[in-house]
Amino acid sequence: MTTLVSGGAGYVGSHTVAALHEAGRDVVVLDDFSNARRDAVGELRRLTTPDLVVIEGDAADRTAVRQLCDEHDFDSIMHFAAHKSVPESFADPLRYYRNNFLSTLSLAEIAVERGIDRFVFSSSAAVYGTPDQLPVSEETPPAPQSPYGTTKLMCERILADTAASSDLRVVILRYFNPVGAHPSGRIGEQPITAGQNLVPAVMRAALGPLSRLQVFGNDYDTRDGTAVRDFVHVTDLAEGHVAALQADLGTHRSRVFNLGTGAGTTVLELVAATEAVTGRPIPCEIVGRRPGDIAESWADCRRAADELGWCAQRDLRQMLADHWRFVSCRADASPPS
Ligand code: WQD
Repeated sequence: MTTLVSGGAGYVGSHTVAALHEAGRDVVVLDDFSNARRDAVGELRRLTTPDLVVIEGDAADRTAVRQLCDEHDFDSIMHFAAHKSVPESFADPLRYYRNNFLSTLSLAEIAVERGIDRFVFSSSAAVYGTPDQLPVSEETPPAPQSPYGTTKLMCERILADTAASSDLRVVILRYFNPVGAHPSGRIGEQPITAGQNLVPAVMRAALGPLSRLQVFGNDYDTRDGTAVRDFVHVTDLAEGHVAALQADLGTHRSRVFNLGTGAGTTVLELVAATEAVTGRPIPCEIVGRRPGDIAESWADCRRAADELGWCAQRDLRQMLADHWRFVSCRADASPPS
């Protein structure tokens, strides 16, 4: 039996394909390469198998997905393919709603039509917005503060309603802030579009193309005034997906899990940790808050520990060391300006 992985050439998707292969699963990748590089496929094949099937296409293209279903015996779908930049989603919300919503709707329809057993969905802590308590548990009422976060919540609802009325079992994984790269150094974060996430910007400041990191706000009510996030190693996330595929959901038709470490790090703490790992100075400039940002977010991961048997294993130093190894060895891996 085989898993269809949409967005499997992208950042979290490619690491998950490697983890699925290691766990003995057959995988077919579907990716439109809108935010993944084609050379990642060669590296992924070196890490997994030269026979890894990678199809270029849109997850919302039902004809193409049905054809793939005719050719392979899928028992599961992992859906990563999505636009994922919060600032971009404010600038062009309709593109985000169209892409993220339609791909999920199409894959859910085909999953039911083809009797696929399990659907694992790549969601985000962005669905929570400003949490009413910390750490953020899955019971926190979602209140997204960006079009991106809203698209993820809409997709979660499509899938939960689908699971309630069919044999499909759905696992929704809400990632906190993914960082790091595969320990081999072969795959990592190689965005085509400028996503404006913190760690790629910090790495560009350490490497040189960015003269200084803009820190968006130092007037939050936090220990050093900068925002707090829960950074989690991308390999830990990948292992979380393998656990989600195999988990016994008991009586639940769909289940939401946070994937984070449970520890919060401020923006300035992350900068200092990156300076220590890279041995490079990272000049910073404090600027105003970024629209849509929240002050603090870190995960309550007890549900994933209890029900998936999953806990993040890698610490901040390892995330940054692995991320740095990847970007510093590949000039072409540095994110675009
Ligand atoms: C973190 C903090 C910024 C850039 C989003 C999604 C989440 C996940 C990751 C999944 C904020 C500050 C950033 C910079 C800065 N996406 N910052 N200078 O917004 O927490 O989460 O991306 O695929 O689901 O919601 O992540 O990395 O953009 O920002 O000061 O140049 O770093 O203001 O406080 P965010 P981020």
